[in-house]
Amino acid sequence: MAEGLNVAVVGATGAVGNMMIKVLEERSFPVSSIKLLASKRSAGKKLSFRGKAVDVQELTEDSFDGMDLALFSAGASVSRKFAPIAASRGCVVVDNSSAFRMDPNVPLVVPEVNPKALKNHKNIIANPNCSTIQMVVALKPLHDRVGIKRIVVTTFQAVSGTGQKAIVELEEQVKAWFQGKPIEKKVYPHQILFNCLPHIGSFLDNGFTEEEMKMLNETRKIFDDPSIEVCATTVRVPVFYGHSESVNVELKGPLSVEEVRELLESAEGVRMVDNPSAAQYPLPIDAAGSDLTFVGRIRKDPSVENGIVMWIVADNIRKGAATNAVQIAEILLRENLLKK
Ligand code: A2P
Repeated sequence: MAEGLNVAVVGATGAVGNMMIKVLEERSFPVSSIKLLASKRSAGKKLSFRGKAVDVQELTEDSFDGMDLALFSAGASVSRKFAPIAASRGCVVVDNSSAFRMDPNVPLVVPEVNPKALKNHKNIIANPNCSTIQMVVALKPLHDRVGIKRIVVTTFQAVSGTGQKAIVELEEQVKAWFQGKPIEKKVYPHQILFNCLPHIGSFLDNGFTEEEMKMLNETRKIFDDPSIEVCATTVRVPVFYGHSESVNVELKGPLSVEEVRELLESAEGVRMVDNPSAAQYPLPIDAAGSDLTFVGRIRKDPSVENGIVMWIVADNIRKGAATNAVQIAEILLRENLLKK
C-alpha cells in the first residue's frame, strides 16, 4: 500500500476508460499495478500506461482479486453485475455509470462540492452524470451563500458523452458529407452532423428524458437538498468534446452580478471567462483538455426576483467523468478511506 495501489480500470478501451488511464498518469496517482479490463472482444489488445504496453483483459468475476481500487466506466449493466463483486472482495469501486447513483447507501460525489459524503462509503462510490458535475461545481458557492430555489438548465452536449462509437459516428458523417456520400446513422436516431437532438437517454412517462431527470435527482443528492427544483432540457450537439450549459438559477436571496463574480473567482475548480465585449466566454473547444469548469455570460435574470443566468462549459470526459473519478480516488487515499 505504501508503494501504491493495485488499480483496475473497467471499460479501459472506451472513451472515459482511456481517459481514466491518462488522468492516473498525469496526476501521478500512486499505482503499483494496473489491470485494464474490457469485454471479451478487446482481450489481448494493448494500451499504454506510463510508457509501457499493457494487455487488456476480459472482465470476469475474478478480475478484482488483490485489487485495491477499481474505476468503472463500462455502462450501467456491467456496473450492476461487477461492482458488487469487486466491493465484496475489498476493492473500492468508483463507478461512472448511473447504476448506483441514487442508491441511498452509495455516496454521489463531486470533490469540490461534497467530499464529506465519502466518509460512509461501503466500497462503492458513484461518479455523477457529466452535465450535473459541471453545473454543481459552478453553483456550489452560490448555494453556500444564499441557497438555491430553482434551476432551469438547457445543455449542449458533446457526442463523446455517448462513448467512442458516437465520436466515430460524427467523424464518419463529416467524411461522408465532404465526399458527397449518403450519411449513415447507427448510434443516434437522427443525423448528428449539422443538427441538434433534444434527446439524451430514453423518454420517460413525464415527457422528460433520463438525462434530464438525472440532473434533477443528482443535483438534489449532491447538495443534500431535496427542495431544489430543476427543470432540464438536454440536447446533443455536433461537438466532439465539452458540454455547454445555459443555466438560469433562482436563488433564495439576493446576490448581485458582482458578488456572483467574486464568489466564482475564488471557487475551487472554476475559471471565469467573462468578457463578452472582447468575445471572451467559455467555449467547448477551449475547455477540451482542461479539468476546470468554465463560467461566463453572468447576468441578472430580469424576469424573476433573485435570478442569475450563466453559461457553464467543461470537458465532459475529463471533469465530467475521468478526472472527477480520479479526484475521488485521491481523497479516498488521502483520508485513509481505502481498505477498511
Ligand atoms: P469493448 O471495447 O471491449 O467493447 P464507450 O463508452 O466508449 O463505448 O466504452 C465502453 C467500454 O465498456 C469499453 O471499454 C467496452 O469494452 C466496455 N464494455 C462494454 N461492455 C462490456 C462488458 N460486457 N464487459 C466488459 N466491458 C464492457
